[in-house]
Amino acid sequence: MKVSEAVRSRLSVRAFLDKPVSLHMLRGVLELAARAPSGGNLQPWRLHVLSGGALEEFRQIVRQRLARDPSPDPLEYHVYPANLWEPYRTQRFRVGEMMYALVGIPREDRDARLRWFAKNYEFFGAPVGLFCLIDRKMGPPQWSDLGMYLQTAMLLLRERGLSSCPQECWSRYNRAVREFLGAPEELMLFCGMAIGYADESSAVNRLDSERISLDDFASFHGF
Ligand SMILES: Cc1cc2nc3c(=O)[nH]c(=O)nc-3n(C[C@H](O)[C@H](O)[C@H](O)COP(=O)(O)O)c2cc1C
Repeated sequence: MKVSEAVRSRLSVRAFLDKPVSLHMLRGVLELAARAPSGGNLQPWRLHVLSGGALEEFRQIVRQRLARDPSPDPLEYHVYPANLWEPYRTQRFRVGEMMYALVGIPREDRDARLRWFAKNYEFFGAPVGLFCLIDRKMGPPQWSDLGMYLQTAMLLLRERGLSSCPQECWSRYNRAVREFLGAPEELMLFCGMAIGYADESSAVNRLDSERISLDDFASFHGF
């Protein structure tokens, strides 16, 4: 697969087949993805990967937590700035509307939207759930390194026929996640990622998210 094919075919997949992912393959991807660049070669990404019994145990704990008390843990970072402004606000709104239209949930049905969103906390049924953490003393440059690592991993997954969905929503339950993982206090959760084989028959996986045009985000000088 060409890099451009991997880039074009990657999308956030939110329904997975019940088909296991081999540890050998996953280790290969996560190791190779570490060829991603990082400022000063700090390689600040720290991962925990769950599958099989460990993932089931974790899902159970999360289910119980959500049933008992769905309020979030104290947040360690904000997923979006407060009062998101244009054009970002509309972009966020658009992708949400497109997704709920595909799964047939109208805007007014807030409960159904919340129930759908809660699938995030099942890793959308994926056979693998990954968490990406970082030393909390790291700053924005190192956080951007995480993005480079994660996108490299997602593209390598495509090369092997696998799909993924990065998930910031886990930051709402950062304590529960860290506790389950036994991750030390100095590590902070950035995001989760569902990994597995896409369920091609699922409507939600046909979400073709839009992009702003090149000239809306890039200026060229001196050409
Ligand atoms: C860091 C990060 C966190 C994300 N968190 C979530 C999430 O919690 N739940 C979700 O359904 N999608 C999540 N997404 C997926 C975005 O909604 C998606 O990337 C965006 O709409 C573009 O769509 P595409 O990935 O299909 O190209 C996240 C994406 C990124 C990069």
